[in-house]
Amino acid sequence: MRKTILGLVAALGLSLSGFAQGNNYAQNYTKFEGLALTPPMGWNSWNKFACNVDEKMIREIADAMVSSGMKDAGYTYINIDDCWHGDRDSLGFIHPDPKRFPSGIKALADYVHAKGLKLGIYSDAGSQTCGGRPGSRGFEFQDAQMYAKWGIDYLKYDWCNTEGLKAEGAYKTIAAALRKAGRPIVLSICEWGTDKPWEWGQNVGHLWRTTGDIFNCFDCIEDHGTWKSWGVMQILDKQEGLREYAGPGHWNDPDMLEVGNGMPANQDRAHFSMWAMIAAPLISGNDLRNMNRQTVEILTNKEVIAVDQDELGIQGFRHSVKDSVETWYKPLKNGDWAVCFLNRSKSPKTIEMNWEANTISDSFAKRELNARTTTYKVRNLWSKKDQGTTKKVLKANIPAQDVLMLRLGKR
Ligand code: GLA
Repeated sequence: MRKTILGLVAALGLSLSGFAQGNNYAQNYTKFEGLALTPPMGWNSWNKFACNVDEKMIREIADAMVSSGMKDAGYTYINIDDCWHGDRDSLGFIHPDPKRFPSGIKALADYVHAKGLKLGIYSDAGSQTCGGRPGSRGFEFQDAQMYAKWGIDYLKYDWCNTEGLKAEGAYKTIAAALRKAGRPIVLSICEWGTDKPWEWGQNVGHLWRTTGDIFNCFDCIEDHGTWKSWGVMQILDKQEGLREYAGPGHWNDPDMLEVGNGMPANQDRAHFSMWAMIAAPLISGNDLRNMNRQTVEILTNKEVIAVDQDELGIQGFRHSVKDSVETWYKPLKNGDWAVCFLNRSKSPKTIEMNWEANTISDSFAKRELNARTTTYKVRNLWSKKDQGTTKKVLKANIPAQDVLMLRLGKR
């Protein structure tokens, strides 16, 4: 009798919790695991080309990513940003603009994959994209199905025209849609940091924008009336306080690179170095078909890239500021450290660093840089020269708006 009653209670409990009205359909609202274990590297069309995208250009960019050495340096994703879209068909499925992408996205994905690269696409959680193309709102599952069918590997999902939507829910919906479609796709959350995606994004997407759009300048704010875009230094400053949210598979995204889009080499170098120091996704945003030697050298500096891609995935931090020179540290694997001196001023600065007199403690990473107990080899990552050890006081001149970037190596 007792057993029967217990059984009855158990069955009742089950039916109440599992099969109550509205609760009988379980979704998986989490991202695909095992992707973006280091910050994603690739290219995106927006910074240079805005809405002027077509399949010929994308194919040429893929060619150039290989021939320039960028693929060898680690860049993988070729990401088409806004404005690839055509119309939805009578069933609601999205198709590319037939004039810009006459061969279709699947053919483009095949082309890109044949080169050992991956293809990314862009959509928006709202009714329309920022460029006024069809958004995914209400079509999330159909869009994800299409992307999977086409062979898409990366989705940047924007936040324009989202009246009444809550960011966390909207991004969980597209995460569930991608899951359902079944193809492992990196999800790039692009809601500009408005709803603190670092607080809820870790299981939803693989990276999240922390700010509004980058502007192609080193130190300026561009006012567009209803919104602003931000220079490299302004974006860097907005990363304060976010490092503990980043790690393998879930990254703070300070927006795509402007390297090669017109800033002088010193500023491009500082921009690239700082993005590496903060373990940012390295998504180039220039015309890879027309790069000068300096741009290629910056984008393919493997030792700087290794700082960004370090497998510990610990975001670096600003430790101190003196006379416009900031000192940044990033703990690396095997007990190594990256150290970057960033001269933000418009005039050259001299620095002096007595390693043995400064112990750096990183309470988040639980790591200590103590040059009295450990002697590190010092490697300059831009001149690519060894510079002795931390036994010697470092004296250096740093040109205006440039960096001195070092790796302190235990072995
Ligand atoms: C927003 C995004 C940009 C870009 C454009 C496209 O502004 O933040 O990165 O994708 O939309 O319209």
